[in-house]
Amino acid sequence: MSEFREEQPEIHMRSFRKLTDRERPLLEEHLLRVGGDDRVMRFMAGVNDDYVRTHVSRIGWPHAVVTGCFVDGTLRGAAELWFDTPMTGRCELALTVEHDFQGAGIGTELMRRALVLARNRGAETAYLACLPQNRKMQHIVEKMGRTVTTSGRGMTESEIAISGPSHMSLWQEIAGDGIGVIDSLVERMGYPRAAA
Ligand SMILES: CC(C)(COP(=O)(O)OP(=O)(O)OC[C@H]1O[C@@H](n2cnc3c(N)ncnc32)[C@H](O)[C@@H]1OP(=O)(O)O)[C@@H](O)C(=O)NCCC(=O)NCCS
Repeated sequence: MSEFREEQPEIHMRSFRKLTDRERPLLEEHLLRVGGDDRVMRFMAGVNDDYVRTHVSRIGWPHAVVTGCFVDGTLRGAAELWFDTPMTGRCELALTVEHDFQGAGIGTELMRRALVLARNRGAETAYLACLPQNRKMQHIVEKMGRTVTTSGRGMTESEIAISGPSHMSLWQEIAGDGIGVIDSLVERMGYPRAAA
């Protein structure tokens, strides 16, 4: 376990799944809740709500795939995967986890899942840029292995090497999609119920 282990948020049910285009408003609400230093860390500058809305309006198939983490039915974390168009074998990754839900492994799991999606779409490298003081993000990148990191121009840039798709990586994505559908049905039915 890392020496940086933070206080754990209280979580009853958490589920990970790809967002559909129709769920874009959920992503917008999530990113608008990410404020202060976290927003600066995500966009590498102080940006206003209109900037965030415009950013979300650009997200969509086929050039961007978003994996979400729902905590008790609300989107609290997201991994955005942006592919070059036309496809070049390179994609760009960005993560956000809302402040009260950080330190519970959500960012790491979003990253792991996003890399599986990148792999299954033929990406050979995933690029991630963050501010030099964003040690938490850099720690997660380091955990993924096969990474080249450089610093300069006021940011830290990482290129994560990605292997080609495998039978296992395709199954991981398909199984994750199936579990995600079941989880979203369970959420809609209002389970798990809060303790009385
Ligand atoms: C970066 C971010 C996505 C991490 O999400 P998270 O859910 O808190 O991440 P996790 O809980 O999976 O992992 C955090 C790791 O950083 C470690 N950590 C915490 N503080 C740290 C520090 N100061 N230095 C190094 N590592 C640190 C934790 O111990 C944990 O590692 P471990 O799992 O090996 O113990 C989240 O903080 C965030 O959304 N920040 C704002 C947006 C942002 O910075 N995005 C990245 C740029 S695209």
